[in-house]
Amino acid sequence: MSKKIIAVANQKGGVGKTTTTVNLGAALALIGKKVCLIDLDTQANMSAYLGYEDNGSPNINDMMITAVRGGEVPDGILHNEKNNVDYVPSDINLSSADFYLSQALARESVLKRVLSADRFAEYDYIIIDCLASLGILAMNAFTVADGVIIPVQTQKFALDVLEGITDVIKQIKGTVNPKLEIIGILPTMLTNTVMTREIMNTLSEQYSELLMKTHISHSVEAAYSAQKQTSLCLGNSKLGEEYKALATEVLMWYGG
Ligand SMILES: Nc1ncnc2c1ncn2[C@@H]1O[C@H](COP(=O)(O)OP(=O)(O)OP(=O)(O)O)[C@@H](O)[C@H]1O
Ligand SMILES: [Mg+2]
Repeated sequence: MSKKIIAVANQKGGVGKTTTTVNLGAALALIGKKVCLIDLDTQANMSAYLGYEDNGSPNINDMMITAVRGGEVPDGILHNEKNNVDYVPSDINLSSADFYLSQALARESVLKRVLSADRFAEYDYIIIDCLASLGILAMNAFTVADGVIIPVQTQKFALDVLEGITDVIKQIKGTVNPKLEIIGILPTMLTNTVMTREIMNTLSEQYSELLMKTHISHSVEAAYSAQKQTSLCLGNSKLGEEYKALATEVLMWYGG
């Protein structure tokens, strides 16, 4: 299994999880790392960002259902030429996961079984785009990951959720996954406003050890990039440079 598996998670919606997953992945690929992105969200935004069109090939839901049933897990890995990353897509059928996982044996480790297959051994980094929830799918991500990045939008109420997610991570670390660590809290969508400054101050007071050095600014480039299905790291953009800095920070966190 790949040594570096990162879950990008926050139970709050719209904070930049998918944008971070795709662009961190693309930035790591640019520096020569072999990257596989996993779409673990029923909304399948990450798949859309990578230009995925459903052609009936197996997706993450098919892989997890088969792992639950003990069958031979199909190969759902696709290649995205433009951004030079591999990925496993998702679709709305993943919403049935709550149901079949609730009845599964060792239900929090189904994704771990999927990612244990030899086909995932070649990757330097596997990055999981989590959905906005701390339910069983997020538990599966935390059970297989060794690092978590928590994007936090620098807006009002953004910090209210941090206690919840850090608690869950602590519980998973204390039970099924001792190697799990928080890589950091990543401030996203920074603006030149009092609100952003206040949130940044509170973050550095309350979460100083967890606060990442890299910050992601607010820019319409993010939406354009998703629309064009091209990562921010390929052109010359401010956000692209910030995501490249994030990739360097993540490399350093893992020891280079
Ligand atoms: N740095 C940024 N500046 C401005 N807009 C951004 C930025 N990052 C992301 N966005 C936009 O904000 C919206 C939410 O971003 P994204 O989809 O990455 O969040 P998410 O946490 O994955 O959301 P969800 O919880 O729905 O999965 C998208 O429209 C995206 O284009
Ligand atoms: Mg998302």
